[in-house]
Amino acid sequence: MSPSHRAPAARLAPSWAPVLLLALGLHSLQAGARRATDPNFQERYFEQLLDHFNFERFGNKTFPQRYLVSDEFWDRTQGPIFFYTGNEGDVWSFANNSGFISELAAQQGALLVFAEHRYYGKSLPFGAWSTSRGFTELLTVEQALADFAVLLQALRQDLGAQDSPAIAFGGSYGGMLSAYMRMKYPHLVAGALAASAPVVAVAGLGDSSQFFRDVTEDFASQSPKCAQGVRDAFRQIKDLFLRGAYDTVSREFGTCQPLLGPKDQTQLFVFARNAFTVLAMMDYPYPTDFLGPLPANPVGVGCDRLLSEAQRISGLRALAGLVYNASGTERCFDIYRLYRSCADPTGCGTGPNAKAWDYQACTEISLTFASNNVTDMFPALPFTEELRQQYCLDTWGVWPRRDWLRTSFWGADLRAASNIIFSNGDLDPWAGGGIRRNVSASVVAVGIRGGAHHLDLRASHPEDPPSVLEARQLEAALIGQWVRAARREQRPVPRAGPRG
Ligand SMILES: *[C@@H]1O[C@H](CO)[C@@H](O)[C@H](O)[C@H]1NC(C)=O
Ligand SMILES: *[C@@H]1O[C@H](CO)[C@@H](O)[C@H](O)[C@H]1NC(C)=O
Ligand SMILES: *[C@@H]1O[C@H](CO)[C@@H](O)[C@H](O)[C@H]1NC(C)=O
Ligand SMILES: *[C@@H]1O[C@H](CO)[C@@H](O)[C@H](O)[C@H]1NC(C)=O
Ligand SMILES: *[C@@H]1O[C@H](CO)[C@@H](O)[C@H](O)[C@H]1NC(C)=O
Repeated sequence: MSPSHRAPAARLAPSWAPVLLLALGLHSLQAGARRATDPNFQERYFEQLLDHFNFERFGNKTFPQRYLVSDEFWDRTQGPIFFYTGNEGDVWSFANNSGFISELAAQQGALLVFAEHRYYGKSLPFGAWSTSRGFTELLTVEQALADFAVLLQALRQDLGAQDSPAIAFGGSYGGMLSAYMRMKYPHLVAGALAASAPVVAVAGLGDSSQFFRDVTEDFASQSPKCAQGVRDAFRQIKDLFLRGAYDTVSREFGTCQPLLGPKDQTQLFVFARNAFTVLAMMDYPYPTDFLGPLPANPVGVGCDRLLSEAQRISGLRALAGLVYNASGTERCFDIYRLYRSCADPTGCGTGPNAKAWDYQACTEISLTFASNNVTDMFPALPFTEELRQQYCLDTWGVWPRRDWLRTSFWGADLRAASNIIFSNGDLDPWAGGGIRRNVSASVVAVGIRGGAHHLDLRASHPEDPPSVLEARQLEAALIGQWVRAARREQRPVPRAGPRG
């Protein structure tokens, strides 16, 4: 789920960048549209309170929270504030992949703010130590939301924008946070766009087989032969392991280390399974660089790769290479370095952001998805609440609180909420863990046919399916309504003279 999925191989992307830019240059229309909505973000830091909920342990100590701001499109007299509630990674990666919010800001004259989530990117409460065991106690959803609330109030004050209605935006975990922001601080944000936000699943209310079943469905609907090919590849690997032919697997799949036993088999399986997760989530109709550089329609490209090899295991290797060997420079797969097993079976990524996400998946965020080789095409890889508890106790010394999000953020019972859009694409394996039905007149579910993970937040593109254009139009209309209603409902407050 995390942008820090980005495997080290993918970080070599810059060598590809000129090629990509050249390709984009050919779409001159689109390049023009891009320039017109370039927000030219400024990067700033805010002195944020370390602990919002305890007056003693940290007193009034602060840490620098990073945020991006752009007044490029802002109409200071009428315009709203569009506030992105940052998720589990570098805030720039969300700003870079959420062009729709800038396009909407240009249309509606909004001030743009992208706030980084504490413990990620450069917003580190305890510097480089932050994600070490013993330093993570201030990493909670509640603290992150309080950061956003305090930052938003401070910005309103500083910019003389006390009466500008704010709308929260976010994708994935950031989408959860944008919805929660509206639920927890409705006096501060007039509404929220929660794109691909799996609020039901993370509250421990989902079906544990749903995620990998839906990943499988993406590949099976590409071609039944593809899904069968994947099953065959995994079965062949399992059979070779059973016969003790470890070297054959290692050679055909291209692992760096020799494979020795059941532990390596499991690691090889989760490593390979994760490639499918990434391709399904990122199945956009044009080339992207979010979790890492990928071609257009990566699920189709992956299936082509798999089926064009004579041997199924080599096919699986070629498909996995889309994710782990984007640079084409990995001579072999270091399956322990490129994929780290963690409390999120959809992948935590690598590096410090991944550790922070692992801690969150060990505390408030429940992600006990498993594959079973019946409702999905993957080997049976169980991940139960008991396994999660053991892992979390061993790794972080904490017990997960499976039911807490149901209490703190309402679980699936959102009848008392208002002004939230839950958008989901039908290609996105996260969609099944989100809100798919309209809850009330103002808590609205928007479906996107042919849409992968928060496609609607991405910048407009010539290859966009019609459904995402419709979704964005509806989102723009609802957000416009909420902003106008918030203006109308405002208590008349004495205004400071116009500034700037
Ligand atoms: C923080 O607390 C110290 C005392 O521990 C006090 O001297 C200081 O003024 C406080 N700073 C702020 C910004 O409240
Ligand atoms: C975001 O985009 C800028 C400008 O294109 C680029 O320099 C930067 O590396 C990108 N950052 C991330 C984290 O994607
Ligand atoms: C990575 O890609 C290169 C170039 O296509 C290829 O030679 C190499 O075998 C690939 N690595 C693995 C582990 O498959
Ligand atoms: C998946 O199930 C099939 C049918 O029971 C079995 O033949 C195959 O070996 C299983 N695959 C794996 C990887 O366990
Ligand atoms: C929810 O309501 C909106 C109109 O407000 C409609 O466009 C949308 O299709 C509805 N969603 C579902 C899932 O029925």
